[in-house]
Amino acid sequence: MIGSLLLLWVCVVSILLLLKSWRPKNFPPGPIILPILGNILELSLENPLKDFERLRKIHGNVYSLYIGSKPAVVINGYKAMKEALMSNEFAGRPQDLFVNDTTQRKGVILADYGTSWKEHRRFALMTLRNFGLGKDSMEERIHGEIQYVIKTLEKSIGSTLSPQVMFHNASSNIICQVLFGTRYEYDDMFIKTIVQCFTENAKIANGPWAMLYDSFPLIRNLPLPFMKAFKNVETCQKIAKRLLAEHKSTRVPGEPRDFVDCYFDEMDKRGEDSESSFSEGQLSMYALDLHFAGTDTTSNTLLTGFLYLMGHPHIQERCQQEIDTVLEGKEKATFNDRNNMPYMQAVIHEVQRVANTVPLSVPHCTTKDTELMGYSIPRGTLIIPNLTSLLNEEGQWKFPNEFNPENFLNDQGEFVKPEAFMPFSTGPRMCLGEGLARMELFLIMVTLLRKFKFTWPEEAGEPDYTPVYGVTLTPKPYRMKIEARATE
Ligand code: HEM
Repeated sequence: MIGSLLLLWVCVVSILLLLKSWRPKNFPPGPIILPILGNILELSLENPLKDFERLRKIHGNVYSLYIGSKPAVVINGYKAMKEALMSNEFAGRPQDLFVNDTTQRKGVILADYGTSWKEHRRFALMTLRNFGLGKDSMEERIHGEIQYVIKTLEKSIGSTLSPQVMFHNASSNIICQVLFGTRYEYDDMFIKTIVQCFTENAKIANGPWAMLYDSFPLIRNLPLPFMKAFKNVETCQKIAKRLLAEHKSTRVPGEPRDFVDCYFDEMDKRGEDSESSFSEGQLSMYALDLHFAGTDTTSNTLLTGFLYLMGHPHIQERCQQEIDTVLEGKEKATFNDRNNMPYMQAVIHEVQRVANTVPLSVPHCTTKDTELMGYSIPRGTLIIPNLTSLLNEEGQWKFPNEFNPENFLNDQGEFVKPEAFMPFSTGPRMCLGEGLARMELFLIMVTLLRKFKFTWPEEAGEPDYTPVYGVTLTPKPYRMKIEARATE
């Protein structure tokens, strides 16, 4: 009797869950949904990029998947991506994922579409601009950091070096100077701890445990490996709070030294306004957000760049010829020099295309009941923009499947940017650090290629271009052989 009742109960619950996870009317198509599991068996929990592509071939550029009982729409290809991302109706962020719980719904990257996000985004763009982006001071900061990179490389002339930590620290220091007005020695405990926490959390966030956390809310309070991510955020926040306290005690109101001072000035301006979205609690997560967003992205792009330039020495040499000609007699490159370097520009863009640094962008969410390519998508649906699908889309590129700067050059050898080039995404949620990232990539690559020749070490066999999957794609660890180039 008890056995039959139990069986009946299991059947009723399964049917209810099955009904719950059936696709709404006119929802994008997708694979058959299993009760409780949804479609998670369709995706490799270690690296779902190939599965997303396989499902695109079956169901088209806009399809749906169920992560447990949670519906998600995956967007692929230039046309659908542009239509969706340009619209405010796709500019929300889901608020019920593992990453939201770990970051306590503060900061800017994961903030939902609304006043607090808008104000914080506007503030960051304005502060980055006023603080020297587009002006000389940001270029000087970047050149200042490049000097440390040069010193590191000079120590390895004639031998080989693993560039991972070097590029990581350089990107981290550039953003730290903007945020906190200071750089950190490469073995500083602050940087080491933060980097370790970020790396670990990025791994957890893109790994199987986060997927299980998102799919099965009942397990969220259990002592499972995802708990480490909460501890890591706590550790980072403690460090950030200490930095903020130091800033507060040494700042002169109205004379900001950096981003954090500007934020305190803004808080002063808003005074006791109880509606204000600016607070110290927001600031500590905001600063961590910007540091996180600006470090791995830039350093992984640089790592990919030097890997491909070593594997394609003729392209490296052509860059160096152009750099030597354009910079002849000049002490250092400026960001404006890019306008006279079409080949170098094409190479940097091609590096970004093949690096595919943020392959699935950051998850979006619909802010209203809306439509996309004729399908109906209810408010609050999780949206996964598959940026990978644009960067090698057939028909958008002359050479979608090879590393070839010709993808960004016209018949006259002039630099052109195809519309499907969206490594920073597009629309209202587009990367707000694009300007800074582009300046860093240009100045770092040009300055290093001018001074050094980078060669793939013979003893390392053939270069392996297959990236390691994560929130950002990372080249497998490699070493590079450094030679000094003859300077004028
Ligand atoms: C090569 C380097 C970089 C790449 C490829 C990159 C790419 C991206 C992508 C794809 C997004 C998601 C956009 C969306 O949701 O539609 C994003 C968001 C963001 N990025 Fe970047 N990024 C880079 C560097 C930076 C830097 C240096 C900063 C620091 C200032 C930064 C700050 C941000 C922030 C704050 C967001 C969230 C924007 C929002 O939600 O409104 N990024 N980035």
